Amino acid sequence: DSVSSESRGALIVLEGLDRSGKSLQSSRLVSYLEGSGHSVEPWRFPDRTTSVGQMISSYLANKSELDDRTVHLLFSANRWEKRSQMEAKLKAGTTLVVDRYSYSGVAFSSAKGLNIEWCKAPEIGLLAPDLVLYLDIPPEKAAERGGYGGERYEQLEFQKKVAEYYEVLRDSSWKIIDASLPIEEIEKQLQELASECLKECQKGKPLSLLWS
Ligand code: TMP
Ligand code: MG
Repeated sequence: DSVSSESRGALIVLEGLDRSGKSLQSSRLVSYLEGSGHSVEPWRFPDRTTSVGQMISSYLANKSELDDRTVHLLFSANRWEKRSQMEAKLKAGTTLVVDRYSYSGVAFSSAKGLNIEWCKAPEIGLLAPDLVLYLDIPPEKAAERGGYGGERYEQLEFQKKVAEYYEVLRDSSWKIIDASLPIEEIEKQLQELASECLKECQKGKPLSLLWS
């Protein structure tokens, strides 16, 4: 049978510290890919619209207290509850540009002192990104940008620890982007990297799973 299924979409993840510019760049990347004729959706984690997401959101806003391991598992559950929908969209040819994913889950919880391997375990079996774009910014510079929204983790000393764990997590496949560059320059780099990734997925690169 020579009939091949329609090419799948790509799972593209943006990671970085708070105030590294992920949200702005995600939405610009989505517009660019849309403009190039691709089917694409913006996603983000935590997804605060679900009931699990609402528990997370209230914790982040300091409106509720949760045990560190418990909240870690909620962040993970928030990805698991979306997994089948993500897979269906990708298989139907839609590219997902995701603002934060499992790497945030592991970096932020490890920065609180939880064991990194313990933190990775519940992420095993989630869909692995085809591309991880890391917006690299010195924690001091991110803090200077101001507008830390006052959520639980938005403090310089904590963000410094998060940066250390991102460094432990990163592997040779990650694309590291200097987030101190002008917005348009970053935007251009992301466009090139994403276009390359989409080509590979269209050529039949299979979906894979975390954690590998
Ligand atoms: P946001 O600012 O991108 O909405 O993310 C909210 C905070 O949640 C941010 O400080 C990073 C943190 N976080 C985790 O601790 N674990 C996770 O799994 C995710 C996705 C985010
Ligand atoms: Mg934030």
